[in-house]
Amino acid sequence: MSNTPLILSFILLLSFALLFLFSPHYKHSEISLPDEIDDLALFRRATLKHVDIRAVSRLGTTNPRLKIAFLFLTNTDLHFAPLWERFFTGHADFFNIYIHADPSSKIASPRGVFHGRFITAKKTQRASPSLISAARRLLATAILDDQLNFYFAVVSQHCIPIHSFNFVYDSLFSSPTQFPVQRSFIEILSGEPQLWDRYIARGESVMLPEVSFDRFRVGSQFFMLTRKHAQLVIRDRRLWRKFKLPCLNKDSCYPEEHYFPTLLSMEDPDGCTNYTLTRVNWTGSVDGHPHTYYPPEISPELIHELRVSNNTYSHVFARKFSPDCLKPLMDIADVIFRD
Ligand SMILES: *[C@@H]1O[C@H](CO)[C@@H](O)[C@H](O)[C@H]1NC(C)=O
Ligand SMILES: *[C@@H]1O[C@H](CO)[C@@H](O)[C@H](O)[C@H]1NC(C)=O
Ligand SMILES: *[C@@H]1O[C@H](CO)[C@@H](O)[C@H](O)[C@H]1NC(C)=O
Repeated sequence: MSNTPLILSFILLLSFALLFLFSPHYKHSEISLPDEIDDLALFRRATLKHVDIRAVSRLGTTNPRLKIAFLFLTNTDLHFAPLWERFFTGHADFFNIYIHADPSSKIASPRGVFHGRFITAKKTQRASPSLISAARRLLATAILDDQLNFYFAVVSQHCIPIHSFNFVYDSLFSSPTQFPVQRSFIEILSGEPQLWDRYIARGESVMLPEVSFDRFRVGSQFFMLTRKHAQLVIRDRRLWRKFKLPCLNKDSCYPEEHYFPTLLSMEDPDGCTNYTLTRVNWTGSVDGHPHTYYPPEISPELIHELRVSNNTYSHVFARKFSPDCLKPLMDIADVIFRD
């Protein structure tokens, strides 16, 4: 047997290592060198995995059986696993689940549909680019795992479904004739009050020349990307070099809320709806956290209210819910999954 592939991979890894050691940016990165090398190898494999999605759809024009990849980004147990389980039941051919769980938090191995869905994960931390890395790891793993993964939805342990699986799937794939013009559902905002402080969080002109202030965007990290955009995100090196730099001002540091909207609005603005399907309540937010719902607030009326959107599509997920909302939510599961 030949050792050539092994030697080639070794040389590849070594050159990445040298590249980063001698790069002026490396010593300022908040992502450790070994993590960065692992990620680059993974992203490279996923980038090389080219699938002509039109060819896939031609396999069955009326029913291409494309899937939604659900990417759970968490550092605790999945509080709402039983509710999600109900959501997924009966649709096994139409989704995949991937979980990135911070390895420093001891998470019990989940059962049922979540069993064995953990991907290789690294430590994540608020106000650091580690959340961007985690989302990119999820995207890359899901791209590699199944060529039928077409939409990639990032959700957290605080997210819940507020529509049935069929409703979500049909909203996304209902018009096969338009295929493959589907857009990514990602919030992309400009002109928000704190944008300048967020822009200079790493230093006054650090983001230049790659990202000038007028191209800097903000949006929620809970998005649903098309396969094309997921590929675009894991291919990126240019913007990542800037967004992985540490913030000098931690109070304005939310890299994951800027990296994805900025990158996608620069690369393919018309391919994005500019809004998210995940409802969040920013009224009375504290310390960068949105309103968290507690059991007394849970009711069928709340679910109906959260679905309402100003855009073409109704909201299909919502956040944030405290863990003890599981029981009252299960009690109204029939309402949640009735559309
Ligand atoms: C999203 O916003 C960008 C830039 O503001 C715009 O070019 C694009 O057409 C918008 N997308 C849609 C679907 O309206
Ligand atoms: C949003 O949160 C506020 C409290 O911060 C609450 O009064 C309001 O009812 C919430 N809105 C919805 C639609 O749940
Ligand atoms: C819809 O738009 C109105 C007016 O801009 C705003 O007050 C409201 O909060 C929006 N609703 C949602 C669900 O985003």
